[in-house]
Amino acid sequence: MGQWGVRLLDYCHYSVTALLHHSMQKVIVAPSILAADFSRLADEVHRVEQAGADWIHCDIMDGHFVDNISFGPEIVGIVRKQTNLPLDVHLMIRTPDHYAPRFVKAGANSITVHVEPEANHDVEKTLRAIRDAGCRPGLSLNPATPFESVEPFLDKIDILLVMTVHPGFGGQSFRREMMEKVKRASEWKKSHGGKVDIEVDGGINAQTARLSIQNGANVLVAGTSIFHTKDYAKAIRDLRGPI
Ligand code: DX5
Ligand code: ZN
Repeated sequence: MGQWGVRLLDYCHYSVTALLHHSMQKVIVAPSILAADFSRLADEVHRVEQAGADWIHCDIMDGHFVDNISFGPEIVGIVRKQTNLPLDVHLMIRTPDHYAPRFVKAGANSITVHVEPEANHDVEKTLRAIRDAGCRPGLSLNPATPFESVEPFLDKIDILLVMTVHPGFGGQSFRREMMEKVKRASEWKKSHGGKVDIEVDGGINAQTARLSIQNGANVLVAGTSIFHTKDYAKAIRDLRGPI
């Protein structure tokens, strides 16, 4: 067998081992309602719940931190009335410390804020306030933001959300190079016996989900690959994968 054959075998072995290892932890699928049909939002939430969703991901955009405006606490409150699934609120906004209490009140179970200076808040203080309010605190970083930016906060969060597209819009292509950050987060988690959820968000489909899980992600956010298909249950099964 030539060198390439051996390499291929090594690679397959690595992939299977990594998949087996990471499959020990349950993969959480969090459909992003940003891609849902808002004219019948309640029905969309019921459908993904019946299809096997674990969490509902709510993308909040303010037109300042990102170049798009989505929805606010009122809509999150409406979603809350439709489901008992955990609501995973992702704040892509400026001054998240100011707005977080409104999302707590609306029924969020986890609230993720951004680490970039443009978000304009005291990250540690915001994370503490979210936890004190009874929510799971999460921290996110944009594709251009280095992993080192979140390192000082890893022991203070329940969720690390690695953006795999530049935030603002659904339907973008997955950035494979972000797997380096997922891998580093996974190594940190292993070495600290940590329970932090490693979440990927943007361009997640069956293939990129596999890659993300192999690198250590255990929460998959997916908008387009669920809501823009006919069979939500199949889409969610495909994301979880064969194991
Ligand atoms: C992007 C949002 C994502 C987005 C994912 O700014 O944070 O949650 O809705 O959408 P897809 O799965 O379509 O890439
Ligand atoms: Zn998101």
